[in-house]
Amino acid sequence: MTTDYNQIGAAFGETKGTSMKLYAERWMMFNALGDVSGKAVLDLACGDGDYLRAIKQLGAARAVGVDISEKMIELARAQEAQQPLGIEYHVRNVAQLEPLGEFDIITAVYLLVYAATEEELTNMCRAIAANLAPGGRCIAALTHPDVTEEHLAAAQTTGVTIVPNEPIRNGSTITITIPLPSGEIQLLNYLWTRETYERALKASGFNTIHWHPVAVDPEGIRRFGAEYWQAFLAHPPIAIVEFQR
Ligand SMILES: C[S@@+](CC[C@H](N)C(=O)[O-])C[C@H]1O[C@@H](n2cnc3c(N)ncnc32)[C@H](O)[C@@H]1O
Repeated sequence: MTTDYNQIGAAFGETKGTSMKLYAERWMMFNALGDVSGKAVLDLACGDGDYLRAIKQLGAARAVGVDISEKMIELARAQEAQQPLGIEYHVRNVAQLEPLGEFDIITAVYLLVYAATEEELTNMCRAIAANLAPGGRCIAALTHPDVTEEHLAAAQTTGVTIVPNEPIRNGSTITITIPLPSGEIQLLNYLWTRETYERALKASGFNTIHWHPVAVDPEGIRRFGAEYWQAFLAHPPIAIVEFQR
């Protein structure tokens, strides 16, 4: 089972307007990233290059994006043609990715949730390790590893519906439905527990693993009010993990 991003294409860009992405995911990602100026950055599962363009505009010296979907890379390259930033894109399956260079920072925003088996998850983590410069770090966004029905229900308060396709367990799947101006899209993600992520990371040589606390951009709180974010903050459906060797 997988999500075919060649079918989703440009609709994915519309999800960026949802409150959870705009004020929580993005806020937590950029806080975790810190100063990217002068850094070589590799974005795995880069989609249409949305994060990578922002990172390059913040001063990254080198920016490379990788995605398995030809359509998503085509969209990313079209943006690059329209507004050249010097970003390089490749169509690759990260689970089989060769070393593309030595990067100071690797971002992986919803890559690991597409690993269908622990072996695939470990292969993705090994590919990350093979592309990091000594002392480099990776920041990944995931569906929350300690997810419960309460976490899934909390997403609903931000307009995103997450339904388990089977009883929640390590390796089970969820369907995420995101309403968009042009209709809705459905994504299928795999749920991996914290223990499984950490086992895959340690098997790939990552011994420093930090789970960032959940946070919301003050601008999102100002716009929607504190009550709107209460359930999300109590049971966050997403998590940011940072790791290095
Ligand atoms: C939820 S989208 C996120 C896109 C981008 N990171 C962002 O946040 O805008 C997930 C992306 O993962 C890509 N993907 C899924 N499995 C992959 C794999 N094995 N290797 C590379 N990319 C993959 C999909 O094609 C899709 O573009």
